Amino acid sequence: MASKKILKIKNLKSKRKIVCLTAYSRPISKILNNYCDIILVGDSVATAFYGMKNTKSIDLTTMINHGISTKIPKAKSLLVFDMPFNTYRNIREAKKNVKKVIRKVACDAVKIESNGKNFKIIRELVKSGVQVMGHIGYTPQYKNKFKPVGLNTKDEESLIKEAKKIENAGAFSIVLECISSKVAKKITNTINIPTIGIGSSVFCDGQILVTDDIIGLSGFYPKFIKKYLNLEKKLNKIIKKFKNDVRNKRFPAKKNTY
Ligand code: KIV
Repeated sequence: MASKKILKIKNLKSKRKIVCLTAYSRPISKILNNYCDIILVGDSVATAFYGMKNTKSIDLTTMINHGISTKIPKAKSLLVFDMPFNTYRNIREAKKNVKKVIRKVACDAVKIESNGKNFKIIRELVKSGVQVMGHIGYTPQYKNKFKPVGLNTKDEESLIKEAKKIENAGAFSIVLECISSKVAKKITNTINIPTIGIGSSVFCDGQILVTDDIIGLSGFYPKFIKKYLNLEKKLNKIIKKFKNDVRNKRFPAKKNTY
C-alpha cells in the first residue's frame, strides 16, 4: 500500500508545483528537507561529485553509501533512490538490488530510467510493494549524447506511449528530462500521475534540478539550469584568504589555540 508521503505527492498533481532536488549527503539533505517535497539520491553523483565521464560508471555500493548519508530519520521530504546503470536489467536482478537498497537506505521509493522496454520490471517491483518513479526523455544511462527530445511527431507519439505504459505499470510519478514544452505539456495532461520536469518546461507538475548545478559547484550549466549561487567563486575567495592567513601567521590566532 502507498505510504502517506507517496499519496501526498500524487495528490499534489495540478494542485501546486512539486519541488525536488538532488542530495548525496546529510548536510545537503538536512537543508533540502525544509523546502523540498522530494529529495533524489541521483546517480548524477557520478559526474557532479566524482567527476566521472557519465552516470554509467557509478556502482551500487557507492550509491548506497550516499543514500545512507542522505537519509534523515523522520524526514518530511520523500527520499527517492536512483537505481544505477546495470542494476535492474531483469526482474530478478532488479528485485534483488532494490531489496538491498531499501534494507540499507530505508528510502521511500526508487527511480528507474526507462529504456523503452523495462515496463515489466517496474510492474513487478510495484507488485512487490516498492514505490517506483519512472524517468523518460533524455535518459543518461541509455543515451550517449545529450539531446533534447520530443521535437518531432514520431518522438511525441512514442514519449506519450512510454509515459502511459509507465503509469500503467504502477509508477507513482515520472521524471521528464529535456522533453520539448509541447510534449511535456501533453504528457502531463494525459497521465494521472505527477510529471517532474528537468529541462522540460513549466508545464510539468513539478521540477527537479541537480543541487550541485544550482549552487555553481558542478561546472555543468546547460540552459535548463538556473545557477542561484556561484559557490565555486565564493570558495576560491575564502580558500585564498585561508592560504594567506596561514602563510602570514594570522591563523591560528590566540582564540583558536589551547
Ligand atoms: O541523477 C539525477 O540527478 C537525476 C535527475 C537529474 C533527474 O536523475
